[in-house]
Amino acid sequence: MAVKTIEWRADSVRMIDQRLLPGREVVRTYRDFRGVAEAIRTMVIRGAPAIGVAAAMGAALGLKGFAGEKALTRFKLVSKTLRATRPTAVNLAWAVDRMERVLEANLHLDKDHLFRRMREEALAIYREDLAVNKSLGRYGAELLASPATVLTHCNAGALATAGYGTALGVIRAAREAGKRVAVYADETRPFLQGSRLTAWELRKDHIPVTVIADNMAATVLAKGRVNCVIVGTDRTAANGDVANKIGTYPLAVMARRHGVPFYVAAPLSSIDLNCESGESIPIEERDPKEVVEFAGKRVAPNGVAVFNPAFDVTPAELVTAIITERGIARPPYSQSLRELKDKG
Ligand code: MRU
Repeated sequence: MAVKTIEWRADSVRMIDQRLLPGREVVRTYRDFRGVAEAIRTMVIRGAPAIGVAAAMGAALGLKGFAGEKALTRFKLVSKTLRATRPTAVNLAWAVDRMERVLEANLHLDKDHLFRRMREEALAIYREDLAVNKSLGRYGAELLASPATVLTHCNAGALATAGYGTALGVIRAAREAGKRVAVYADETRPFLQGSRLTAWELRKDHIPVTVIADNMAATVLAKGRVNCVIVGTDRTAANGDVANKIGTYPLAVMARRHGVPFYVAAPLSSIDLNCESGESIPIEERDPKEVVEFAGKRVAPNGVAVFNPAFDVTPAELVTAIITERGIARPPYSQSLRELKDKG
């Protein structure tokens, strides 16, 4: 996809405002870490790997003009602010931890050199994410027949990463390998990442896409219209339980009911071996307005109670395979995920 999700330019971070897509393509520029944190919190940028990259770039911006002890004190504030934005995507904490290790190893540098070193690390995280997606895509593409039709949920595409995508990266890689692939995209209530973002980026790449409302997925599966389901993840636990956009779990249940393989595309940075199972994954709850308003207009009665969890957890037993940049993990995941992590 030609449009860049996030970019470092002249000591500022530029992001396409995903809240306005597909209607308007507006690029926003941030020059300080607070702006980047706000962009993550308000979903200007979203998707686990993309917010990891944004947090790394934000951390670099936050250290501009600091060195030594002052840099350490400053980083505490920067790190706390960035980590508080969105709790479920482990990539965010993973990226901030990595930036912290680089800071600690470079406290001898003066402020200009320290800033350059931090910027370099943030850019490395960006470049690595792109490479990881391509590698993951190649492994995943081998799972697809030709022709194949894939059902996906939310947006695990170029917009959710440094580029190329995880779930959509598999589809792109299959196309590059000469396979014919079409996509069904769940609308993904309430934020509509599927109908707004997945459909937008697939259209840009001329990949056939059909949008459905989330409650139509069972019909699509029952009618045998898809060969497999592929989704991304915000955090996958050591036992293979998968936290992803709300609505992923029912999709996995329905896929099992209809004998359709359910694949998760997960860069190793999204796999959290410190979380034993899905039970210990923190699930973000978002503003009730996302549920009771539609396109900025209230559609539910005033005063009604709302529950708005942004993610759900799919139990490992419903996951056919987890596609990573180092290969494909199969059950039992407590063993296969650890082996892939250790491989590096
Ligand atoms: O709330 P979002 O839009 O950040 O949620 C994104 C997802 O659920 C994605 O599937 C996940 O982050 C993986 S993106 C490669």
